[in-house]
Amino acid sequence: MKVLGIAGSPRQEGNTCALLQEALKGAAEAGADTELLFIPGLKINPCRECGGCDNTGKCVVDDGMQAVYPKLRDADHFIVASPIFFGGVTANLKAMIDRCQCLWVRKYILKQAFSAKTNRRGVFISVCGGKKTDFFQAASLTIKAFFITLDITYDADLFLPGIDSKGAITKYPSAIRDAFKLGSGLCG
Ligand SMILES: Cc1cc2nc3c(=O)[nH]c(=O)nc-3n(C[C@H](O)[C@H](O)[C@H](O)COP(=O)(O)O)c2cc1C
Repeated sequence: MKVLGIAGSPRQEGNTCALLQEALKGAAEAGADTELLFIPGLKINPCRECGGCDNTGKCVVDDGMQAVYPKLRDADHFIVASPIFFGGVTANLKAMIDRCQCLWVRKYILKQAFSAKTNRRGVFISVCGGKKTDFFQAASLTIKAFFITLDITYDADLFLPGIDSKGAITKYPSAIRDAFKLGSGLCG
């Protein structure tokens, strides 16, 4: 079983990356093969809305995203992690998600399956600096739309408000434990 971790924060040693690594550890201990994709390192351009995928369901833009499509196709389960940036997911992660428009075309226009995998499930991990929990609403809707397009069931999420400085999450051992459980639960 393959579990793909998708890291949306540009802060590689940051709070959501730490939680994602812990969730992947949980998945690995439950027997999964795990991989962490650090999205900001992949030079993924935003969707150009060029229509180049309209007839094929394949994106014509040749950049870092081309290496991501096979990983999205072949994984059994997904752990997406992003901090809240101005009420949503990071621009890096949003660019990756928007580049899945070709998969939306495949599913809804061309009626072609993207992945041969079935019963795919995903979880979403997020933190934000502010103390209000409603900051997570828009981001979780974005992840739900992404998951629906890829036939991934939105299984659970872990939201932690009031986490701001780099490494602040280490002061919350219960959050680290919850992330581990989220990952192991995906493989149970
Ligand atoms: C560009 C930017 C925008 C942000 N926007 C918000 C926001 O809208 N609401 C909030 O509560 N925190 C916001 N934050 C704070 C981050 O969510 C917070 O620092 C988080 O811990 C970063 O997680 P990371 O270490 O995984 O990158 C923002 C931070 C940055 C750099």
